[in-house]
Amino acid sequence: MFKLKIIIGSTREGRNADAVCQWLLPLTQSHGDFDVEVLDLREWNLPFFQETIASVGDFSNPTYSDPLVKRWNEKIREADAYIIVTPEYNRSMPAVLKNAIDTVFFSFSFRRKPVAFVAYSLGPTAAARAVEHLTQIMVETEAIPVRASTLIPLVTTAFDADGQATNPITNVHLSVMLDDLAWLAKVFKNARSEVQSLPSALRIRAKR
Ligand SMILES: Cc1cc2nc3c(=O)[nH]c(=O)nc-3n(C[C@H](O)[C@H](O)[C@H](O)COP(=O)(O)O)c2cc1C
Repeated sequence: MFKLKIIIGSTREGRNADAVCQWLLPLTQSHGDFDVEVLDLREWNLPFFQETIASVGDFSNPTYSDPLVKRWNEKIREADAYIIVTPEYNRSMPAVLKNAIDTVFFSFSFRRKPVAFVAYSLGPTAAARAVEHLTQIMVETEAIPVRASTLIPLVTTAFDADGQATNPITNVHLSVMLDDLAWLAKVFKNARSEVQSLPSALRIRAKR
């Protein structure tokens, strides 16, 4: 079993994220390869990012500027894989989600772990542009973005009264995404058990 954290990237009242997660969670749990934990950013009321190297404190046991920031870094570190659930806000992700990613500062806790995206919007573009932005951002964290995303257009009609996907293709995309996420989680978990180099940013800094 791989430790999978599902990060819910919208926090506003009445969010469509709830309908998406009601469908996503049972299918992810029944996949069989994952020990799933939901990290709802509503419950992780992270401060607006303000860390510096000084506020990290002792690098071997960082304190950060806030105990919640420390706990968030530790929680992200526990994982073998991630699913980020995101809507599209102004052709990108919600600011609260970007802030949660930026908050994983200096611990490199996303490093060498796969991340997949479940994305939705009211319109026909299904938050594809948010996924493109997230893919770039997660590369910088040294996470491994999965090619197969699950894109959900027209989200208000995407699920029926029982929470089932109204378009069967949505389930096909999710199942392929989960298979690839599990495969990458296995490969990278094995690789992380070997001696690892320092993050590339630190190696470059050391050679300057
Ligand atoms: C601030 C804001 C910006 C948005 N920008 C876009 C957009 O650029 N493209 C799009 O397809 N939908 C856009 N939408 C519609 C959202 O994708 C849709 O409302 C979605 O349900 C939001 O997710 P949530 O309800 O879980 O917060 C936007 C919504 C908000 C609130």
